[in-house]
Amino acid sequence: MPEATWTAVDRYLDDMLVGPDPALQAALQASTEAGLPAINVSPLQGKMLHLLARMCGARAILEIGTLGGYSTIWLGRALPADGRLVTLEIDPKHAAVARANIARAGLAHRVDVRLGAALDALPRLAAEAPFDLFFIDADKASIPAYFQWALRLSRPGSVIVVDNVVREGAVIEADSRDASVQGVRRLNELLAAQPCVSATTIQTVGVKGYDGFALALVISAYDHDE
Ligand code: SAH
Ligand code: DHB
Ligand code: MG
Repeated sequence: MPEATWTAVDRYLDDMLVGPDPALQAALQASTEAGLPAINVSPLQGKMLHLLARMCGARAILEIGTLGGYSTIWLGRALPADGRLVTLEIDPKHAAVARANIARAGLAHRVDVRLGAALDALPRLAAEAPFDLFFIDADKASIPAYFQWALRLSRPGSVIVVDNVVREGAVIEADSRDASVQGVRRLNELLAAQPCVSATTIQTVGVKGYDGFALALVISAYDHDE
């Protein structure tokens, strides 16, 4: 199946189900103009995140990997008036572009962009836990560590979404020397072994190529001594 078909179908579905959205389009334009890479989720994936957040009634969301705030805006819009979203970003330029995009989308009061390495910020989030929904979308080698932090900051019923876990099929290459591939392989081992979560992974194609996302539900309390 040629990539041209994936893209055409994505554009058709985007037209039908998402449509023009000034704040999101402005966010992408500002991100492009600032030289950020176009590695945000697609419009249809962003709406999926938004619907997931609404389906689980999320009031507290933690995102790891902000970029220009495109996925952040989709998630932030799903929150109730007193909801909160914390998003972690290591790159000062990305964080600055994201803050401006989030403010333009009218979400500055609900969204907190925290600048710094996620692994430094995560241990300091205990006072703000539990989070209802996690979106893990930063450096892929650290996915296993981010997943374990998400568990520590979760409650039974929390939902954990991890982006980019199929990697054009490279996820099945056991001997891969790509740290991102090894990161998602280790995630799958954790998901398979961890009794407190139930998980699946969905492969995706579209304007962002061939990849996939993992979806995990925390089904029982995480043992914090682990
Ligand atoms: N979620 C965004 C895309 C994120 S791209 C969207 O869909 O719109 C990944 C982001 O993670 C980049 O901005 C990158 O700078 C950031 N990142 C990479 N390593 C990080 C780390 N160790 N801590 C926090 N952020 C990190
Ligand atoms: C990259 C990161 C992402 O989160 C993504 O969705 C696509 C690509 C990257 O680092 O190349
Ligand atoms: Mg991603």
